[in-house]
Amino acid sequence: MDKIRIIGGNRLNGVIPISGAKNAALPLMIASLLTDETLTLENVPRLADVRQLTNILVNHGVDYGVNGKRIGEDLLTGQTISLTARSITDTTAPYELVSTMRASFWVIGPLLARMHACKVSLPGGCAIGTRPVDLFLMGLERLGAQLDVEGGYVVAKAPGGLVGNRVVFPKVSVGATHVIMMAATLAKGQTVIENAAREPEIVDLAKCLIAMGAHIQGAGTSTITIDGVDRLRGARHRVVADRIETGTYAMAVAMTGGDVLLEGAEGSLLENPLDVLRQVGAEITETNSGIRVRRNGHGIVAADVTTDPFPGFPTDLQAQFMALMTRAKGTSHITETIFENRFMHVAELARFGARISLSGQVATVEGVESLKGAPVMATDLRASVSLVIAGLAAEGETTVNRVYHLDRGFERLEEKISRCGADISRISG
Ligand code: UD1
Repeated sequence: MDKIRIIGGNRLNGVIPISGAKNAALPLMIASLLTDETLTLENVPRLADVRQLTNILVNHGVDYGVNGKRIGEDLLTGQTISLTARSITDTTAPYELVSTMRASFWVIGPLLARMHACKVSLPGGCAIGTRPVDLFLMGLERLGAQLDVEGGYVVAKAPGGLVGNRVVFPKVSVGATHVIMMAATLAKGQTVIENAAREPEIVDLAKCLIAMGAHIQGAGTSTITIDGVDRLRGARHRVVADRIETGTYAMAVAMTGGDVLLEGAEGSLLENPLDVLRQVGAEITETNSGIRVRRNGHGIVAADVTTDPFPGFPTDLQAQFMALMTRAKGTSHITETIFENRFMHVAELARFGARISLSGQVATVEGVESLKGAPVMATDLRASVSLVIAGLAAEGETTVNRVYHLDRGFERLEEKISRCGADISRISG
């Protein structure tokens, strides 16, 4: 298994290109199941999760093509892929595939909308919590689906097709909003989703669906209205910039000091975390080509943060912010409200000498003068990158084990930050 080795202490200076968002690319790829024409997606990140979802879609009968690299094209920019679901040859999403990536459960929406029947494995739990799918099932039932759980699979039927309805989510869910929005595009009549997720990735999916011929209004607000159409067509769409990758590298620069342009980043996608970073002492400016993050001279001060659905502070940046706070002047309180078990990085950060105590959903971080490099273990995608951030600022050598978690969500991380002066390399094993 590969490891990442870091010798801490270097400042970061230079340019980091920001990739297309993983969390937008995945639902966009799944949307290809809604049409028999070709969906072309630009700026798709080269990630393990994208490759895994490709396998899942190919299993349903999707033809997949990837454009070759053009002369002069940088490998750090995203790829263009084409997905054509001319005919869906298999409406079953098997356990072996779904269990490796939760978001693949989302195929249930398009498969049911287009084929009126499907069988999709329940995804099971994951390291950051139980992550139930009750909201998806409730929403699909509201659209007229008949659902049974048999042998770990959701067996879904909608003879005659889905029918639009009002779907009121008791809790904000990104995945359930994606699925009901996709399913409703081909339902008969109007669907209104209340308490919808407002994440930029929802807006990006809605833009693509509209380009495919869907009638959608209100994406980005908590009420989304979808008027069903008989069929969708092919389209070409560029994946929105990854706000989590942007926030992660912004925090890395705040941690190490230096001056980095996050090329292609869009400030409007992460105003809350950028404000928090300004508050703790980083200088952030938005330019035509991206976001410039600087910290020279002054140290970082503590701030309190509570995770919330968009436009609040993202749970996907909580671990990285905690790493940053380990070296802040003062004490910070970090409250996780989205997932019940998203503090596995606490024990690993303690291995660097961080002082963190946990009480329920609140972590209290007492900033220390310095961290010391250590061997640590990645436990999930975002937690693993928090260990990289700590390692970049720690004295001496850090090895991050189980980096396959990182490869699921960060495109060429060590290449991107070593270009800016970090001493970081991958040890294949
Ligand atoms: C997505 C993101 C993930 C991010 C999360 C929250 C992708 C691929 N993943 O995950 O990176 O951390 O949003 O911003 O986009 N819930 C239920 N019942 C359900 C569905 C969800 O109780 O049927 C709960 C979850 O357990 C969690 C909360 O709702 O506590 C929010 O989860 P949700 O927004 O659905 O997260 P994902 O879409 O899985």
